[in-house]
Amino acid sequence: MSAPELPAGLKVALEAKLHGRARDDIAARATQISKTYRNSGNSRVIASEADALAYALVRMPATYAAVTACLNALLEVRADFAPKKLLDVGAGPGTASWAAAETFSSLQNFALLDINAALQTLALELGREHARLAAMTCRRDAHALDEAEPADLVIASYLIGEVGAERRTLAERLWAKTRDTLLVVEPGTPAGYERIIELRAQLIVAGAHVAAPCPHDRACPLSAPDWCHFTQRLPRLRAHIQAKGAELPFEDEKFSYVVLTRDPIAKAFSRVLAPPVLSKVEVSAKLCTAGGVSFTKVPRRDKAAYAKARRWRWGEALFD
Ligand SMILES: C[S@@+](CC[C@H](N)C(=O)[O-])C[C@H]1O[C@@H](n2cnc3c(N)ncnc32)[C@H](O)[C@@H]1O
Repeated sequence: MSAPELPAGLKVALEAKLHGRARDDIAARATQISKTYRNSGNSRVIASEADALAYALVRMPATYAAVTACLNALLEVRADFAPKKLLDVGAGPGTASWAAAETFSSLQNFALLDINAALQTLALELGREHARLAAMTCRRDAHALDEAEPADLVIASYLIGEVGAERRTLAERLWAKTRDTLLVVEPGTPAGYERIIELRAQLIVAGAHVAAPCPHDRACPLSAPDWCHFTQRLPRLRAHIQAKGAELPFEDEKFSYVVLTRDPIAKAFSRVLAPPVLSKVEVSAKLCTAGGVSFTKVPRRDKAAYAKARRWRWGEALFD
């Protein structure tokens, strides 16, 4: 599968918003936002239109790619999922809504919630560039989540790390608004994974089933220092390269995620948990299976199986 790139209309809209702005100023804001985010895990530092734009240039391509990868993982196990209504909580500039709109042509109704005024304004402006997103609703008042209508698909992308003591309550509220499927994505760090695994355990007790990445609803079989995460390579925007002073034309976004559904997934599968190692004699891969973690070796002499295993990719679901 090719790298999920921002849709052309969104790239053009971002570039157009940059027009006439001092690149140095945007770069300085992007650096400050990344630094604050790394230190406090909080995006409250984004306080103006220019901050919101700097954030979008630097982070939107990566979070878009990560959310798209998660939605593709859901489609692998549930090809017929066709949500009509999306609730994007902690929507920021609308990244996850764009990813969902591009993945599901069935989506017609987009409700975005975010407490940040500058990001909300940017989400509305960018949304005008998309035929279906143009009619999005955007709220940022304290009652927005409680008053939101339940949606077929609820997404919390890079949100729960910003919520401290109220994280359990937020998880409950997200699930209460989920008619069918909830996707929660976090940075692919041990701390991001911990948050995912806590929410996963809490909502399984509340009746949720795991659709991805885990092929089971049992406790995660991994233990520290190991953690479940994946990576998505994506091309960098020209403006991002300028804003970040980046040298490489691509970046690798690490993410951890869980997709929870009201009904169990009918398809049995295993998940590739790390880059498979290819040698002249075999392919070895670490898999998460319904029975726990399995270290599988596929010998070259088993020609058909070896040819298949050579194409395995980190994060992919394997079906019998
Ligand atoms: C790291 S940004 C992620 C934005 C977007 N989801 C993405 O993936 O690009 C986190 C967002 O969550 C929002 N946020 C933080 N706490 C929130 C809360 N309690 N309710 C709604 N939004 C919140 C922030 O304002 C910010 O826009």
